[in-house]
Amino acid sequence: MESFRACYTGDPQMARFIDELKRSHRCSDLRASDAGKEVVLFGWVASYRDHGGCVFVDLRDRDGITQIVFDPNLGGHGDLPKDAYARAQALRSEWVIGVRGVVTSRGANKNPKLPTGEIEIHAAELVVFNKADTPPFEIADEIDTGEEKRLQYRYLDLRRAPLQKTLRVRHQINQTVRRYFDAEGFLELETPFMVKYTPGGARNFLVPSRMNAGKFYALAESPQLFKQLYMVAGFDRYFQIVKCFRDEALRLDRQPEFTQIDVEMSFVNQDDVFKVLEGMIFKVWKDVLGIDLKEKYPSGRFPQMPFSESMSKYGNDKPDMRFDLPHADITDVVVDHAGGGIPFFKDIAEKFTSGKYRRDLPTEIVKAMRIPAEHAGKLSRTEVEKLEDFVKGMGAKGLARAKVDAAGNWTQSPLAKTITPELRAAVNERVGAKDGDLLFFQFGKTSVVQTVMANLRVHLAKKLGLIPESGHGGKFEFLWVINPPLFEYDEEANGWVAAHHAFTRPHDDCVDMLDKDPGKVLCYRYDLVLNGFEIGGGSIRLHDPEIQAKVFRALGIADDDAREKFGFLLDALRFGAPPHGGIAVGMDRLAMLLSGAQSLRDVIPFPKTQKGTDQMTDAPNKVEPQQLTELHIRVVEPKA
Ligand code: AMO
Repeated sequence: MESFRACYTGDPQMARFIDELKRSHRCSDLRASDAGKEVVLFGWVASYRDHGGCVFVDLRDRDGITQIVFDPNLGGHGDLPKDAYARAQALRSEWVIGVRGVVTSRGANKNPKLPTGEIEIHAAELVVFNKADTPPFEIADEIDTGEEKRLQYRYLDLRRAPLQKTLRVRHQINQTVRRYFDAEGFLELETPFMVKYTPGGARNFLVPSRMNAGKFYALAESPQLFKQLYMVAGFDRYFQIVKCFRDEALRLDRQPEFTQIDVEMSFVNQDDVFKVLEGMIFKVWKDVLGIDLKEKYPSGRFPQMPFSESMSKYGNDKPDMRFDLPHADITDVVVDHAGGGIPFFKDIAEKFTSGKYRRDLPTEIVKAMRIPAEHAGKLSRTEVEKLEDFVKGMGAKGLARAKVDAAGNWTQSPLAKTITPELRAAVNERVGAKDGDLLFFQFGKTSVVQTVMANLRVHLAKKLGLIPESGHGGKFEFLWVINPPLFEYDEEANGWVAAHHAFTRPHDDCVDMLDKDPGKVLCYRYDLVLNGFEIGGGSIRLHDPEIQAKVFRALGIADDDAREKFGFLLDALRFGAPPHGGIAVGMDRLAMLLSGAQSLRDVIPFPKTQKGTDQMTDAPNKVEPQQLTELHIRVVEPKA
């Protein structure tokens, strides 16, 4: 039997370093106290300087940088053979080398910027493991290379210290999360990626089945139904750090392939889920950032806000709580004053008073946002005018505004001319207007008004320096957004659709309204928000087949349709399903927000571009006709 086999028999030097000498330290390890030690380091040439008779190299590995000196005349360690010195002179950036040498103090010449700056290695032996072409961009902390090129050579981009650091953060998050859930009695269990296509939720990627002509698997958009089945199977507490796949329009905080920290628990209520998640976040912040969130949240709990309050004050369900600037919904004021002399408002008011609109249906609204005088003073007139373009880019028709004076009158505003004193006074009161304040208004279709006002709020906060352009700015504001409605009104379909997945538990006191007034049914669904991003979402599930059937009916899903789509889950619910609930945290978003990165692409090792392509490997790509035939697929080329 062979017990040892050298791989590098053709290259004695390589063999000497890899087989015999072996690496003794990492490039971040050595300090003044190591002086005199003989060491062996492996790494990449980060930089080299030939000082005539003596070559200095910064050697880099994943942990740090150590300065190496190749000097054939160094007293004491002057055993660097001539040929090794000649090879040192030929070294270039990003060559992969090994060095044996002696740790030597740099005395007064130390480099305070490097943890290893007190020492250098006086080289006695050198091996070149591999040469490197000149990289297309510098492997430096700051580079101004376009993202396209960086993604094309992602392995070089990843070699840069900021990305090395970010991926280390991911590693730390993973380890902390695993330790935490293990200690809390959760089992890390796997679920399939290739699953049955079920409608609703995000659009799925489909995988053709070669063995079942004309049939497709869906790539799991999340382990949702399987984690619920684990509860039915009695596993009680499940977690998984898992890849999910969604064929959605991409944004800075969305990737087609992303990672969730996925959790499901039996015999719990909403608060139990929150506590477990809060514990996890506290641990991650402590272990990864060294921040004790107890100082900010002494009770160990994050604040909670009803969905309706979040929508009315901030225009969406993921408000950035690092600053104030709330909205005021003034629809009722406008309706009560019959539009108060403003033609657009009058149109809206009439639709409500004539009965065309119901106040409880999200049709059209009027919103105002007050910019207090101390901030309003910082915005020049041109800047305010530019905001008009900003909102138009989101589908708004314009941005009505008014400046408030000491008497509560409005100036610098077309609205000021016609508004009745009564409506003006009522609006001033609703928004709390004071001398010097600036008011912005939006009215029209609810979804547009909400989006425009939500984005305007964040845009202004950045302009006013209340939050940085990107990154956390040292502030972490967590919030649970709770009690959203179970159904959304779909104007096009003129009916109710599930706002979340169809297995979310309605509030018990709303069950009676499932058939009478579905719009009023609230549910145990929750989102965890951090600095204006949804980092997690989950719900308490329906485990009771009777209420489940009612929910399907309210959604207009016929029994046999439900069976066809979700039969396996409906069956499972009849075989002793415990009450259960869970949550999934977007691991990439967590890493992005925690490390202050600007985009998910900065925290995902091999991300996709905005168009869903891989710049480096060129995926997705065409395949051979033969492969398509085997998969029973014919491609219809898109029309040019
Ligand atoms: P949800 O769809 O809310 O819930 O997803 C949970 C979290 O995953 C993150 N996320 C994404 N991150 C990057 N790119 C994407 N395309 C993307 N989509 C979602 C978000 C989000 O909060 N099965 C349920 C969870 C549950 O009910 O337990 C689910 O997937 O941070």
